[in-house]
Amino acid sequence: MKNIIVLVSGGGTNLQALIDAQEREEIKNGKITCVISSNPKAYALKRAEIHGIPSKILNRKEYQNNQDYTKALLKLLESEKADLIVLAGFMIILDQALIQVYENKIINVHPSLIPSFCGDGFYGLHVHEKALEKGVKLTGATVHFVNEICDGGAIILQKAVAVENDDTPEILQKRVMEQAEWKILPKAVSLFCEDRLTVIGNHAYIDYQKGN
Ligand code: GAR
Repeated sequence: MKNIIVLVSGGGTNLQALIDAQEREEIKNGKITCVISSNPKAYALKRAEIHGIPSKILNRKEYQNNQDYTKALLKLLESEKADLIVLAGFMIILDQALIQVYENKIINVHPSLIPSFCGDGFYGLHVHEKALEKGVKLTGATVHFVNEICDGGAIILQKAVAVENDDTPEILQKRVMEQAEWKILPKAVSLFCEDRLTVIGNHAYIDYQKGN
């Protein structure tokens, strides 16, 4: 059974999707053993508490820079014996030091079809504002491994979502979450825990036979 550590900063609806999937026994060979929040006021902490999942606060505001923050996070992850780290609305760009230690063991969910609307400065609602500004007809979500390039690691799963005429960033964000993020994130986490993902170069391959 793999130890899944979920890192959060805000509302935690993706964490909730993971918890719900876990309670439906859809996450095979893995268990959420700890939730770590960069923000002491994150509602995600409440979600963990309601479901009896241990949580820790590592407040970003108490550190000078991302490098120092990542150092402290690395220690915490080691003490939690993390096998998989899931960034579920975690709004801090991790330093190389951590990414190297957990190569192909960190998964992020991003609210667009990478390589569109991603990279530095593209996070949360802002991603949907940019998609609407551009006038794309399709957007979606991506789950990918984290490497040294922001939103540049091997793609595990993607799901497209239609943009509608009257969409506001908030409406589009909600649709992308409901139709894509909350579905593909738990699926990708289970694939990882079942050892069904292989990364070669910048490609992630899914073992479909193992699931049958
Ligand atoms: C989600 O839409 C997630 O994809 C996005 O922030 C939101 C967090 O919501 N993450 C990023 O933009 C990371 N680049 P949540 O706290 O309700 O899961």
